[in-house]
Amino acid sequence: MDFFRAIETRHSVRAFSEKPVEEKKLRSILEAINRAPSAGNLQAFEVYLVTADRDKARLARAASDQEFIGQAPLVLVFCAHPARSAVRYHQRGEKLYAVQDATIACTFAMLAATALGLSSVWVGAFDELIVSQIVGSPGGQIPVAILPVGEAAETPRVRPRRSLDDLVHLI
Ligand SMILES: Cc1cc2nc3c(=O)[nH]c(=O)nc-3n(C[C@H](O)[C@H](O)[C@H](O)COP(=O)(O)O)c2cc1C
Repeated sequence: MDFFRAIETRHSVRAFSEKPVEEKKLRSILEAINRAPSAGNLQAFEVYLVTADRDKARLARAASDQEFIGQAPLVLVFCAHPARSAVRYHQRGEKLYAVQDATIACTFAMLAATALGLSSVWVGAFDELIVSQIVGSPGGQIPVAILPVGEAAETPRVRPRRSLDDLVHLI
């Protein structure tokens, strides 16, 4: 799929079919994640891949019962890994770059999923501590986004955007 078509056609989907994500597509999403830029190329993030029903259901509960997380065949959890960035960038790496690295990686995953004909939704509302426990991430890592991925089982609503005049400031 053309890049701009992927940008235009990506919409948050909150109902998924049970069909598993094909191995080849999963691999492409993971490769896209690994191509994401990061501060100093330190890749200060980790990705946890969740497919077991029990764990997905626990993630849904940790995210204020957003049940669609349990429905998606594949759930990716992106964690910032501040210590990796702090080695070179100290406080700025720890507080900012690691979070940016993780969120850019999640964005790459979203767009790759769209390009492959899959759907997703960025989930940011969850209990960090419980999500860390579910994925078994070591202390210090911070879960920043949960990304359920799969085939859409709904037609997503197209959300409006601000006008460019409002958003962009010519200085
Ligand atoms: C940082 C962030 C956190 C979000 N958290 C949630 C969430 O917890 N649950 C949810 O259903 N959608 C969540 N979303 C999805 C947004 O609601 C959605 O992207 C926005 O309404 C625009 O719709 P679109 O993605 O279809 O363009 C989140 C998106 C972002 C970027």
